[in-house]
Order: sequence, then structure tokens, then C-alpha cells
Amino acid sequence: MAFGKNLLSKIATNDGHGENSPYFDGWKAYDSDPFHLTENPQGVIQMGLAENQLCFDLIQEWILQNPKASICSAEGVNDFKDIAIFQDYHGLPEFREAIATFMAKVRGDTVTFDPDRVVMSGGATGAHETMAFCLANPGDAFLVPTPYYPGFDRDLRWRTGVKLLPVVCESSNNFMITREALEEAYQKAEESNINVKGLLITNPSNPLGTILDRDTLQGLVNFINEKNIHLICDEIYAATVFTRPMYVSIAEILEEDKKCNRDLIHLVYSLSKDMGFPGFRIGIIYSYNDKVVNSARKMSSFGLVSTQTQQLIANMLSDDSFINKYISESRKRLAARHGVFTRGLMQVRVGNLQSNAGLFFWMDLRRLLKESTVEAEMDLWRVIINEVKLNVSPGSSFHCSEPGWFRVCYANMDDETMRIALRRIKKFVLQADEREAAAKKHMWHKNLQLSLSFRRWDESIMKTPRIVTPHLMSPHMIMSPHSPLASPLVRARN
Ligand SMILES: Cc1ncc(COP(=O)(O)O)c(C=O)c1O
Repeated sequence: MAFGKNLLSKIATNDGHGENSPYFDGWKAYDSDPFHLTENPQGVIQMGLAENQLCFDLIQEWILQNPKASICSAEGVNDFKDIAIFQDYHGLPEFREAIATFMAKVRGDTVTFDPDRVVMSGGATGAHETMAFCLANPGDAFLVPTPYYPGFDRDLRWRTGVKLLPVVCESSNNFMITREALEEAYQKAEESNINVKGLLITNPSNPLGTILDRDTLQGLVNFINEKNIHLICDEIYAATVFTRPMYVSIAEILEEDKKCNRDLIHLVYSLSKDMGFPGFRIGIIYSYNDKVVNSARKMSSFGLVSTQTQQLIANMLSDDSFINKYISESRKRLAARHGVFTRGLMQVRVGNLQSNAGLFFWMDLRRLLKESTVEAEMDLWRVIINEVKLNVSPGSSFHCSEPGWFRVCYANMDDETMRIALRRIKKFVLQADEREAAAKKHMWHKNLQLSLSFRRWDESIMKTPRIVTPHLMSPHMIMSPHSPLASPLVRARN
């Protein structure tokens, strides 16, 4: 054996996959003790998976009613050979047609999509990597507003050598993407001699569950046009918008903005979220740039969707009345889940960022942090996963600039599991509040005793005018358990 020699490549041995982040640690904690209603009711409930499992009854019903859609059924077996040998990287024409129609439908038919621009990939994961390969060289960068989906660090960076640079968004304006934040990130890159090739946005946002309004989208289009860089729009949650305001796709902005350079705009889509089929690996690149369509299609040889899947999906998506029913029912069920969770948490004074899309919400636990640091956020997260037995994802794993936010997924479980999860969070928050109140009361007594003993010591021994620290003097400041001085941070210092 040749010691000292690297037997594997740099890519194979670096940690660009990101498996070691808390985002994936949470999944591991779940895997080692998974909750089960009857077999392991004390186990960890998985709330770190953005999966849409609320409408599988409708899908199953459709499958049973459409046996010919599968080539592995008595009704469909005659198509088996033709489908099994088809390997054109353009994909089945009926598949591209159905995808283009579906993409328009979930965007309210306000836009149309050209089936000839639909390029396949292995999920949105593969689509993002392909985009990075098409648009950037190793060392080049994309700007990404924070907080963002942690998988991007793997998908766009790992094998391509491309960088991601954060555009810092904050809770003070509901994490909106501002022109100032974009300019700041762009300038920072220039100062570091990094070549910015594009801006990557996710609309609806993972992890926020919010959508971008028309003005913001137009502002982003103006920004990338001025800088002459690309805009990649990940719209894989487009059909999860469950209430107003209405969703606006980047495709709509393009149809209105005739001055925009269309060659700079690219859409990433997938059926992993809107239809809940992450296992089928149906990813789509839809670029307005002919050259990108061309090169992405050549690259798609590395991540094609199997023709068996294409054929099934083409049949399913072409069933108009089924798809209409599916989309509207899915929205209703998501809205109901979102409502139960967020209202339930409000009862224990846990807020969340107001949202109307996605398979998750952005929970605000800032008030439970010992201090406003990532370390304190991770301490809280460890308690939630190990003691409360819920795998929610800490904001820091989404590059959130402010500690204390957590993403909570709610569409990957049944109703009973959801109720147990909600009960667990509420109980935990109530207990944390009680502990906090008890600690403040204890502190108040201690400070009072200290103050009294000071006074006695002062008067009996020193016999000099009393010098008392202002905060010990002021009954308001020390005696109120609500005083800022009674916060855990100050207690630690005391
Ligand atoms: C914003 C975003 N983009 C891409 C992906 C990856 O999707 P896919 O399963 O289609 O690869 C995810 C998955 O969670 C996501 O949230």
C-alpha cells in the first residue's frame, strides 16, 4: 500500500457535500430514534424534511383509476418496450408538453412555457449544478439572499468549484431582499476580486415560506441587467402558495418587461415539492437563453429522468381535471396545517414570520435564547432535538444572520403526529417560560437579600455615607422580574 499518496480525488475527499452541518445532523438524530405512533411514541419527530405528503390519497386514487398510465400493468404493458428503449436526452415530447402546461397552470395560467425549452435533470439538485456548470467557472460566484436552502452549498459549489456569497437579509424588514443588501454583497465580491456571475433566488422561499412581490422581482431583474449577470429563479414551491397575496413568477415579469435581457434569466423547477415526488428525481431547467438550453441539454445526459417516470408523469399531468383538483386540494390542506401549527404556537407566545407558501414556517424562538449568538441557538436546538425530540432546523444552517429562528416542516406527517409535535413544542415553551420566571424570582430574592445585607454591613461597620450601586438602589430595576437586568445574560455576569 502506497502511504502518503492520495488514492482518491480532491472532490471525493473534501467535505463539500455538507453532510456535517446541523441540518443533516438533525436527520441523523431522527434516523437513530425515529418516532412511530405505536412502536416508538417517544421517538424523534421529523420536522426537518420539506416533503409534501398531504395528498397521496388523491394520487393513489388516480393510479388505481389509470392503470394504463403505468407500463408495468396489464393495461399498459404493450408500451413497455418502446418506453424501455427510448433514450433521447430531449425527453419524451409528451412529457415536455405536459411539464410546460403544468408549469403554466400552477402559475395561474398567467404565462406560457415553451416545451422546447424544457430540459430534464436529476431533481432541482441536478438542475442547480447544471446551471452552475453552464454559467460559471471555478472561482466565480453567485449571490444568494439569506436565509437560504442549505443544499445550495452542495448543489452549486461542491463539484463545480463555484462560490456562493450571501446577500444579508434581516428580520427588521421581514427578510426582504433590498437593493442596498444586493449592492453591498456585490461590492464586497468586487473588493475581493471575485467574479460575480449571477444571483440565485428561491421564490417561494425555503426556509421562509414567503413569496416575492412584483416590485421586488422587478428590482432584481433591473439589478442583474445593470450588472449584466444571470438570474436563476428556483420556483420549486410555486404550487404551494395557499393564500393571498397571489404568486408572481419571474416568467410574468419577463412577459411584462420588454427591455429585460432574457438571455440572463433561468428557471429551476421540479416535481419534488408541488407534487410531492422527490423520489422520482424530476428536475427541470427552463432557460430563456438558447445557448444555455443547448448546453444544459447536453449536460442532462448525466441526470436524465427515466422514461418510465416520464411516461407516467406525462399521463398524470395531462389529466386536467385531476391536476386542477390536486392543486386546489393540496393548497387547502397546506393552509389548514399551517393554520393549526401557527395558531397553536401563538397560544404559548411563539411567533413566526408571516407566510403563505412552502411546506414549513419560520419559527421565532429568539426569546428563548440565553444570548443572541449562534452557540446559544445551537444549545437550544440540541435541547429541542434531544429532550423535546423534534427535529426542527436551526436558522444558522440556512445562513440566517440572526440567531433564534428555526424552520419547522409540517407537511411530511399525518394528523396525529402533527398534534403530538405541536403538544411537545407547546409544553417545552411553557416549561421554559416557567423556568425563566422561577429563575427571575430567585434572582430577585437573592438581590433583595444582598441589598439588605449590604445596608446592614454599611450601617454597622463602615459608619460612613452609603454608596450603593445604582441597580441595587432602584427597586424598578432589580425588583421587577421583567427588568432587562434580570435577563439570563446579565444573570450570568452577576
Ligand atoms: C429551494 C430548493 N431547491 C432545490 C431543492 C432540491 O429539490 P429536488 O428534490 O428536486 O432535488 C430543494 C429541496 O428541499 C429546495 O428546497
